[in-house]
Amino acid sequence: DKGAYPYYMLKEIDEQAVVARNIAAHYFDEEGQLQGIGCAITDKMKEADRLYIVAAGTSYHAGLVGKRYFEQWAQIPTEVHIASEFAYDQPMLSAKPFFIFLSQSGETADSREVLDNVKKQGFPALTLANVMNSTLTREADFALPVLAGPEIAVASTKAYTAQVLVQAILASALGNPGFDLKAELAKVAVEISAITDEKETFKKIAETALKDQKSAFYIGRGLDAAVALEAALKLKEISYVQTEGFAAGELKHGTISLIEDGTPVFALLTQKKTAGLLRGEVAQVAARGANTVVIASKSLTKDGDAFVLPEVEELLMPILAVIPAQLIAYYATLDRHLDVDRPRNLAKSVTVQ
Ligand code: M6R
Repeated sequence: DKGAYPYYMLKEIDEQAVVARNIAAHYFDEEGQLQGIGCAITDKMKEADRLYIVAAGTSYHAGLVGKRYFEQWAQIPTEVHIASEFAYDQPMLSAKPFFIFLSQSGETADSREVLDNVKKQGFPALTLANVMNSTLTREADFALPVLAGPEIAVASTKAYTAQVLVQAILASALGNPGFDLKAELAKVAVEISAITDEKETFKKIAETALKDQKSAFYIGRGLDAAVALEAALKLKEISYVQTEGFAAGELKHGTISLIEDGTPVFALLTQKKTAGLLRGEVAQVAARGANTVVIASKSLTKDGDAFVLPEVEELLMPILAVIPAQLIAYYATLDRHLDVDRPRNLAKSVTVQ
């Protein structure tokens, strides 16, 4: 039930703070100890010499963020693969692979095909899904819930943030984030609400920067590049504005030639190490006429930025950085009088290959 909301997507965007709290309550006990993962899973993962995350669409983008947690905190090399590619062109695998399937629905045919292949080869697999008791959770050796609650809008929002959060928790069960993850998740939940409270700002950005535009870009570096892919998918799939998500350093290798007067370029800037370089890239596209919209963390912001993101641990910033993009996509679509929840040609669950 949408309640007072005009569209499920907006309701689901707003639910992300509660989802973050529910995930923390499920996976941490009162003392802050992890619970609900089970040694069978962590022992098996620790035996692995490499993790293979397999997913499609938004879930694939969540995997690109999760990779960082598994590598940095758990020290396990991690690859992220598009299910439809992996299914028919399996890359050379390590000696002891462990597979993680990420899926909102648990029914995505491309991912199921890979799971079938992986099982035939005898490799262990864990599914992180929003819909438990789905094919991918039943057929994997292990399954963990991502606890986003029912997601109705075709454009995935809260399932993405939930997948990122649960990967962070799982990686922390395998290694050490170097900070109090439970306390930080409480902060994340508060700051998600602080961003979703700013709807008018994003409505204005969508209505001005994207007005009459047929194409747009999202750029970032590092984790922001991963979020840029998801941000671009959100905008293009519902508003039909052709949007490319880009690792900002790649622009100069070709794509910058597409920049014209007024081309909207959204820059996500949350990673300190590359902030200076990204500022340079923003200046380069601006010099070629782009209408730049910078969304930056508080400590990295400058005069003229369109939105200041509240700050949490840098590796958790993707959870906050994606929310402006979700809201900009929503309002750009509303402004075009399109059906936000049901974009053309798309199904919520893609059960064919
Ligand atoms: O149910 P899944 O997470 O396996 O679905 C994978 C993709 O089809 C899905 O994430 C899709 O990209 C989103 N609905 C886009 O918003």
